[in-house]
This record gives sequence, C-alpha cells and structure tokens, in this order.
Amino acid sequence: MRGTLSSNRPGITPEIELSRHIPEGERTLPADVRDGLTAEPKAIPPKHFYDRVGSELFERITRLPEYYPTRAEREILETRGAEIASLCPTTELVELGSGSAEKALLLVEPMLATGDLRSYTAVEVSESALMSTLEQIGASHPELAVNGHVADMTRHLGQLPPPEASRTVALLGGTIGNFAHPSRKRLLRAMGGLTGPGGHLLIGCDLVKDPEVLVAAYDDSEGVTAMFNLNLLAIINRELGADFDLTDFEHIARWNPDEEWIEMRLRAKRDLEVTVSELDLNVGFQEGEELLTETSAKFTPERIATELGEGGLEMTGLLTDSSDRFALVIAEPTGA
Ligand code: SAH
Ligand code: AVI
Repeated sequence: MRGTLSSNRPGITPEIELSRHIPEGERTLPADVRDGLTAEPKAIPPKHFYDRVGSELFERITRLPEYYPTRAEREILETRGAEIASLCPTTELVELGSGSAEKALLLVEPMLATGDLRSYTAVEVSESALMSTLEQIGASHPELAVNGHVADMTRHLGQLPPPEASRTVALLGGTIGNFAHPSRKRLLRAMGGLTGPGGHLLIGCDLVKDPEVLVAAYDDSEGVTAMFNLNLLAIINRELGADFDLTDFEHIARWNPDEEWIEMRLRAKRDLEVTVSELDLNVGFQEGEELLTETSAKFTPERIATELGEGGLEMTGLLTDSSDRFALVIAEPTGA
C-alpha cells in the first residue's frame, strides 16, 4: 500500500511517501510468542520491543551515562560526516531501523553539502518512530524527497524500489548485532542488493570491549533497560491477552564470551503459570527459568570483514570513535 501523507504540525507541510509492507492486522507476534514460549530454552525475537513505549524507552537508553554506543557513533558522525559523505557519494540515502531522526540528520547534512543527495528513505517496523523521523527530516530539508516503509528489514527489502542512481544503505546503532548469525548474513546480502552500481553500505558495529563496560550498558543503574526488557511482557499482555505479572520477572544482562554477545533475559522469580488467551496457551515457568529476549553481538574488525565477505561484501572503510568503542563500517558489494 502506498500513500502520500502531510504532516499535521502547523506551519510544516512536508510531503511524505509512505508504503506499508506489513499489512494492517498482519502480525508475526502471535507465531513468535507461541514458538518462543514453547521452545526450550524460551526466546522471543527483539524486534517486538518497539511499540510506542518501547521506542520511547530506547530513546531514554541512548541518553544513559552507561549506554556509550549512541554517543560513540554520534561522535564519528559529527566529526567525520564530510569524510563519510565523500567515501559514499550518493543521491539516495536509505536507512534501515532508523529510530529517531538524530543520526539521519548527521548523514543527510554532509551528504547535501558535499554531494547530490536527493532523497531520504527510512525502513522501520515501528510506525510511530518512522512517522516522527520522516516529519522531522521533511521539515528540516524540504528539498529532499522523503519516503517511509513500514517494513521488516529481514523480510521486505526485496520490495523496495530499485535505486535510480548510487545509493547508500545505512544500518546504524549496532542493530546489525541484534540479528543472529544466519539472518545477519542474509540481511547483509539483501542490503548489498539494494545499493545499485557504485553504491555503499554504512553499518554501525559495536566493538568487543571490557565485559564490565558492556554489562553496565545493558544493566543501567536507573533501571531503564530493565523497563525496556519488561515492556515486552506488557506488549504480549496487551496484544495477545496474556496475564504476565511484570513483578514476577527480573531483568538480566550477561556477557557471553564464547558468542561475543550480550544476552538480555527475563528470569522468573518463582514457579508460575502464564495464560496467553489469544493463543489458547498455558505456559509454565520454573523459579530461575529465563526467557531470552535479545542478543547484541559485539565485533572485532576481523569478524566484521569475515561476515561482510560471507554476505558478498567487501569492507572499504572503518571509522572508529576516539576511544575505539564503536565502528562505522563502509562496504561495497563484490558481485560474489
Ligand atoms: N538506528 C537508531 C535506532 C536503533 S533501535 C539508532 O541508531 O539509535 C533499533 C530500531 O530498529 C528500532 O527503531 C526498531 O523499531 C527497528 N527495528 C528492529 N527490528 C527491525 C526489523 N526487523 N525491521 C525494521 N526495523 C526494525
Ligand atoms: C537497537 N540495538 C542496537 C540496541 C542494542 O544495544 O543492542 C538495543 C538495546 N537493547 C538494550 N539496550 C539497547
């Protein structure tokens, strides 16, 4: 479904082309919850965190003192925006999992200043986050064509229009690390298929570092990440008529040194049973049993190069922040 929307904010009338690839009412949540709560061990994919409350909690996380990835990536964008724009000469910027407009503006502005950027396109599962980003970009840069796709980047990239000229496809924030290895490989290949001749990928990768720093980033002292994690249960209660009592679960963040990822889990504080009425499902949790809600892989430059190669891509640039916490990787399809 395609449509043109105008902002209803007074004085601002950017034209936004919006396409929905997730049909109204189509949800993968029921199947993911059924599969995830009946699996051993229990697990639910992290894309379901981002309802309106979840997207707002994520924005709070990005401002926490312990959560360094957003600040580190922003530092790279702020200090090396012109260099990135010259390494990725582009007329179309496509951003996957865009979240808020802040980082997009840090790319759009140098790309407009040094080049010939004509359009900004965002691909998001969260319609609320998508609309507010598109409105902001459209209002700040009326000269750009602004497009939005309510879509799952693991399923719908093939439905995006082909590039008219060179395209940069960005996936920022370290979100690439939230996909498990096989789907990450498929995603990288699909992203490579979107760039067009002479196009680039721009991928934010969080780097392996002291586990204490990593765990603190996912278990902050204010408890915002705990609220973000527990909000998943509130979403399942609201969307599927479940009766999770959020106070029965505690937030866990753990570094897994073998997999080199942070795992977020929800641990049952007592033996309990949950009913998910829309699924006609009763699920038991034993005291101490954990539900895996997210993995967030951390990378070394070697692992990044290997995984890009597996996705038919070649690394052509790697820019890190001043403390080497985070990398912005530039890559090109090899045609392999
Ligand atoms: N890029 C932003 C936001 C990162 S949060 C930043 O760097 O701060 C991750 C974002 O990806 C969320 O807004 C979430 O809604 C979106 N997202 C997660 N899984 C997705 C998927 N499978 N397809 C499309 N968007 C997804
Ligand atoms: C979106 N993604 C890169 C975040 C991360 O760091 O893995 C999501 C997040 N989970 C807990 N805090 C932030």
